[in-house]
Amino acid sequence: MRGFICTTSHPDGCAQNVKNQIEYVKSKGAIDGAKKVLVIGASTGFGLASRITSAFGSNASTIGVFFEKPPSEGKTASPGWYNSAAFEKEAHEAGLYAKSINGDAFSNEVKKQTLDLVKKDLGQVDLIIYSLASPVRMHPTTGVLHRSVLKPIGGVFTNKTVDFHSGKVSEISIQPCNDEDIVNTVAVMGGEDWSMWIEALKAENLLAPGATTVAYSYIGPSLTEAVYRKGTIGRAKDHLEATAFSITDSLADINGKAYVSVNKALVTQASSAIPVIPLYISLLYKIMKEEGIHEGCIEQIQRLYQDRLFSGAEVATDEKGRIRIDDLEMRPDVQEKVAQLWNEAVTENLSEISDLEGYRKDFYNLFGFDVEGVDYKAEADEMVNVSSIV
Ligand code: NAI
Ligand code: NA
Repeated sequence: MRGFICTTSHPDGCAQNVKNQIEYVKSKGAIDGAKKVLVIGASTGFGLASRITSAFGSNASTIGVFFEKPPSEGKTASPGWYNSAAFEKEAHEAGLYAKSINGDAFSNEVKKQTLDLVKKDLGQVDLIIYSLASPVRMHPTTGVLHRSVLKPIGGVFTNKTVDFHSGKVSEISIQPCNDEDIVNTVAVMGGEDWSMWIEALKAENLLAPGATTVAYSYIGPSLTEAVYRKGTIGRAKDHLEATAFSITDSLADINGKAYVSVNKALVTQASSAIPVIPLYISLLYKIMKEEGIHEGCIEQIQRLYQDRLFSGAEVATDEKGRIRIDDLEMRPDVQEKVAQLWNEAVTENLSEISDLEGYRKDFYNLFGFDVEGVDYKAEADEMVNVSSIV
């Protein structure tokens, strides 16, 4: 471990995680969904779950775009690489088309490479999932390197946080951002790149009639509001949500539609780096597991597809046009209980009142560790080779 980053990963553990997600999707039955799917940010978290749900729920052909480190002799790949290798293997064995592009999705080059692949192999796509989470974006036209920050706007934010490795609860104060921080965070995590992707696909006639595109957002409770939804990242999510409307307008002639889905707080590489959020998640997990309503990425996305996007009925949205699969997290009784635990939380009682253990397990699972059914004593081969990832 170095800070919040695990510097190694386990190929078999990552593969087992992917297999478990595939089994879950298959156990829920067929979804009458899109058949030609492009997933941008396809290698981990919600994007990987989306790719798996499309492929194994709807027999879809999938192209995945991501930015991962391949293995080198004696050095493991990043988990998203192993996840993708395992996904492609399973997809090919099931007779499904699956190819991937490993590179910077913000760049013109990777967009062009992807467009060429869509044109050559699929003709058109009917679903585009946009699930990037990145701390930086090199702007393709200005050449400016934008860095996103996780800061409050307008005032210092002070609250509890936990170091989830040690279980130590402490108080953290985060200094407010400046105006440039907001601009930069919106440039990285807002909707500009999403709309660039859709424009580029449309310009080459690669969007099927009625094509749908979905990006992911988060709202969360008042506890985290100052650092999340009302902070710099929240401005980016506001921009992303507004972009859904402008994309929908731009797709009127092909009857296309852009949605934002608001998802539940979950342990991913992206969220573990945000202060305060891990404490919230470990308390939320405790309550949601007690209530029998806990979900991981795959349960969330399977439900998004089956009950919202492809239920056959009109897609249900909130007053701001957003799909809500954070409905269980945001249930008033759940939030009330979490807020109460939040007030009580100290280092001494945290292992009892929270699901810190579940948090840690999910975190190690991200890197392929602590996964049931994997023999960690056996020799593992880090040099996984996959020709369909370019
Ligand atoms: P993640 O870190 O698991 O996945 C990020 C994906 O983006 C990976 O596939 C990675 O390879 C790819 N990526 C990053 N930079 C890239 C680049 N320059 N070029 C190509 N690919 C790149 O993150 P997670 O949590 O699945 O986030 C996805 C979306 O879901 C984000 O918009 C996030 O804000 C949103 N979300 C996350 C929640 C959470 O609690 N984790 C809750 C609700 C929404
Ligand atoms: Na993702």
